[in-house]
Amino acid sequence: MSTFLCFLWLTLLLLVTLIFRKKFKTSKLNHPPGPRKLPIIGNLHNLEGLPHKCLQNLSKIYGPVMKLHFGFVPIVIISSKQAAEEVLKTHDLDCCSRPETVATKKISYNFKDIGFAPYGEEWRSLRKLAVMELLNLKKLNSFRYIREEENDLFVKKLSEASVKHFPVNLTKALFTLIASIVCRLAFGQNLHESEFIDEDGMEELASRSEKLQGEFAFSNYFPGGWIVDRITGQSKNLEGLFSELDGFFNQVLDEHLKPGRIVLESPDVVDVMIDMMNKQGEDGHFQLTTDHIKGVISDIFLAGVNTSATTILWAMTELIKNPSVMKKVQEEVRTVLGEKKEKITEQDLNQLSYFKLVIKETFRLHPTAPLLVPRETMSPIKIQGYDILKKNQIMINVYAIARDPKTWENPDEFKPERFADSCIDYRGLNFELLPFGSGRRICPGMTMGIAMVELGLLNLLYFFDWVLPEGTTVKDIDMDEEGALIIGKKVPLELVPTRQH
Ligand code: HEM
Ligand SMILES: *[C@@H]1O[C@H](CO)[C@@H](O)[C@H](O)[C@H]1NC(C)=O
Ligand SMILES: *[C@@H]1O[C@H](CO)[C@@H](O)[C@H](O)[C@H]1NC(C)=O
Ligand SMILES: *[C@@H]1O[C@H](CO)[C@@H](O)[C@H](O)[C@H]1NC(C)=O
Repeated sequence: MSTFLCFLWLTLLLLVTLIFRKKFKTSKLNHPPGPRKLPIIGNLHNLEGLPHKCLQNLSKIYGPVMKLHFGFVPIVIISSKQAAEEVLKTHDLDCCSRPETVATKKISYNFKDIGFAPYGEEWRSLRKLAVMELLNLKKLNSFRYIREEENDLFVKKLSEASVKHFPVNLTKALFTLIASIVCRLAFGQNLHESEFIDEDGMEELASRSEKLQGEFAFSNYFPGGWIVDRITGQSKNLEGLFSELDGFFNQVLDEHLKPGRIVLESPDVVDVMIDMMNKQGEDGHFQLTTDHIKGVISDIFLAGVNTSATTILWAMTELIKNPSVMKKVQEEVRTVLGEKKEKITEQDLNQLSYFKLVIKETFRLHPTAPLLVPRETMSPIKIQGYDILKKNQIMINVYAIARDPKTWENPDEFKPERFADSCIDYRGLNFELLPFGSGRRICPGMTMGIAMVELGLLNLLYFFDWVLPEGTTVKDIDMDEEGALIIGKKVPLELVPTRQH
């Protein structure tokens, strides 16, 4: 009997210490605040509408570091420049991995890419390769003529519309411009001549891949979520969308593998990767496979086209909405470049100052990846005094930070002058303005993206005056956004060009 009692006591004691220890342990950690979560769905009910906007609203209540649960997955949301600096600079090395999700696994060929791969040797090598072969300043300069040629062609097409006073669908026109440049630069594909892909096909593919990423598939947030996916048809969607993309990437690859392929411009990033793949020995480094090549093609395609095109589109939208800014910037452009230019080169960008402020202000109000790309912690860290555990997802709301009234006066207004006497820039060093992110995961295509945005917008502003189609006014301009990872303008922008020179 006494042994039984003794046993009972011991068990009780054990239980009590366990409970206390647990209590003690949890109370020692300072978790970020956040809205109350519901069983199973977590805080998904708090997220009606576009995530970056909901999260901006929530951060006004819960502060710059808050924790939400998307289903079962805890996610920390960062919404101030101080907290962003801690994540992206002080603790960059602890925060520069990416969470693995069903959709990103698929689209990155099982994380054999740059954008979605977890931190590690493979990611570092691929990123280095892409920078060396495509994205560094030297390569960028050597491909200047491609950007200029495609812009000339773009101006020609717009001029035809201008003769007839037809409205131009700028959403479409800009997408085609950027897609043509990126395909020529990166894949040696001339969209105007390619056998297997034309502009419309390209657009179709791009919008599909957007959808693919956008299927914020349930399986990401619920263990066993694949059941829900199957029921709602998400899995089937994912497969269907993916196989079309894969078909395109295979065509790009096959074209480069053809015996006797004639390299028109210099060897592109795909040529170089194939060459490396063929030459590699069995030594220590990771082995490059065709999946890696497709992963990189997929990244460039997804990250490079829609982002730049959308940025120019927002710039034009804001300029039409703010006629005094439009007038001022066009005056500068036309005075500095003179009246009689037939072609614009990138040299012409050097002397424009107000123009550059217009671009800065566009990046501030319309970051195309408002939550960057989600990161994952590799070890426990403290941000603003809050504890964030290992393998937690972190999203940086650069949209909210760029509109934080503590930093910006009248934050929602489009006012390029705000940068006139300021040294704040958007290249990842000023944490109040981060359209390209910062730290180890900063956008490696930043310089190329900026070059495409600047040249495209300059051509639009120098050669043409723009008005809204008949019967519409500035009040009719729709500013709604849509998208998942990359946010675009929901309603296409149509404007009527009049050629000036
Ligand atoms: C205006 C144009 C662009 C914008 C606003 C933009 C923005 C971004 C952002 C916010 C990120 C995530 C950074 C982070 O997680 O901290 C990113 C990543 C990336 N971007 Fe861009 N981007 C643009 C153009 C381009 C271009 C032209 C390319 C290539 C052709 C490119 C390739 C990539 C890649 C490969 C990554 C993944 C980097 C990594 O995870 O290591 N981007 N971009
Ligand atoms: C955020 O708050 C503003 C102002 O209270 C409101 O108008 C808007 O609808 C909210 N947005 C979202 C997405 O919840
Ligand atoms: C403009 O182009 C976009 C993108 O290509 C397309 O979705 C939209 O239907 C077009 N809008 C009009 C009015 O033609
Ligand atoms: C560009 O991104 C927007 C926002 O995600 C999306 O709605 C649109 O379909 C994309 N357009 C193309 C042509 O990829």
